[in-house]
Amino acid sequence: MTDLNALNDVTGQVAVVTGGTQGIGLACAERFAAGGAKVAVIGRNAANGEAAVAAIKRHGEHVIYLQGDCTSGPDMAAAFAEVDRQWGRIDILVNCAGGFTASPRLDEIDEDGWRKGIEWNLTSKFLAIRLVAPVMKRAGYGRIVNVTSVAGRGGIVGAPLDYSAAKAGVEGLTRRVAVELGPLGITVNAVAPGTTMTPRLSRMTERRMEQVIARIPVGRLGKPEEIAHGIFFLCTPGAGYVNGAVIDMNGGSWTG
Ligand SMILES: NC(=O)c1ccc[n+]([C@@H]2O[C@H](COP(=O)([O-])OP(=O)(O)OC[C@H]3O[C@@H](n4cnc5c(N)ncnc54)[C@H](OP(=O)(O)O)[C@@H]3O)[C@@H](O)[C@H]2O)c1
Repeated sequence: MTDLNALNDVTGQVAVVTGGTQGIGLACAERFAAGGAKVAVIGRNAANGEAAVAAIKRHGEHVIYLQGDCTSGPDMAAAFAEVDRQWGRIDILVNCAGGFTASPRLDEIDEDGWRKGIEWNLTSKFLAIRLVAPVMKRAGYGRIVNVTSVAGRGGIVGAPLDYSAAKAGVEGLTRRVAVELGPLGITVNAVAPGTTMTPRLSRMTERRMEQVIARIPVGRLGKPEEIAHGIFFLCTPGAGYVNGAVIDMNGGSWTG
């Protein structure tokens, strides 16, 4: 008989969350810690990292912060090696680090800005997956979730070009790696949040926020813990038959 509680149980597992020091990534880290997992969060800013560790420790005991830029191969190699050294396994990877700082139009964006957006939102995920795959293969088990965006799902006016393209690319990466790692007990999925109430939204004007909310059928923005809830599901042992999927968590709006 199937142990139904085991389907949801991540006790003792090791979860790495890139961009886990704030927003959706932090909510994921807290969720894993509350579920009994050991959690490593990666981010660039050490002060953010220390604050995140304190917040996550309210939910669970084993938490480490690793400083690094997810677009840097050497930074990521050092971070993943440290997790493996400390805990000897990695069961879960949530590839959350990403974002944008400006939204230039096609006739405004320069080549450097384009490349940076692709590095930040797509290459960063490839780097982490490549590093974690051998550790998961060794165990014959793993759960990888890539955080993409509604901006990669629809043509959203005002969404940055590089960001939208990179997020759509994350879907291709997800499906392709799912095919390669699925036979080895490792699932690879993506979650595409709609506008979610995280610190980066402090940059949004009140007027823009009202416009966004007016287009969301549930009549509000998403909460980080709601996105984390979906990500957590994909990272449980019971989600083993979900592979190569993109789960939309956007309140029913594909227009951003
Ligand atoms: N919030 C939304 O409305 C929304 C909607 C759709 C998709 N998403 C996606 O969800 C993810 C998280 O978004 P969020 O709103 O939670 O963002 P956020 O509040 O800006 O937090 C981003 C987190 O990622 C870290 N980070 C960013 N770039 C990094 C890098 N290159 N290397 C290492 N760490 C990095 C940041 O820490 P440091 O600054 O210290 O490095 C921070 O912990 C992103 O991929 C974003 O595209 C968000």
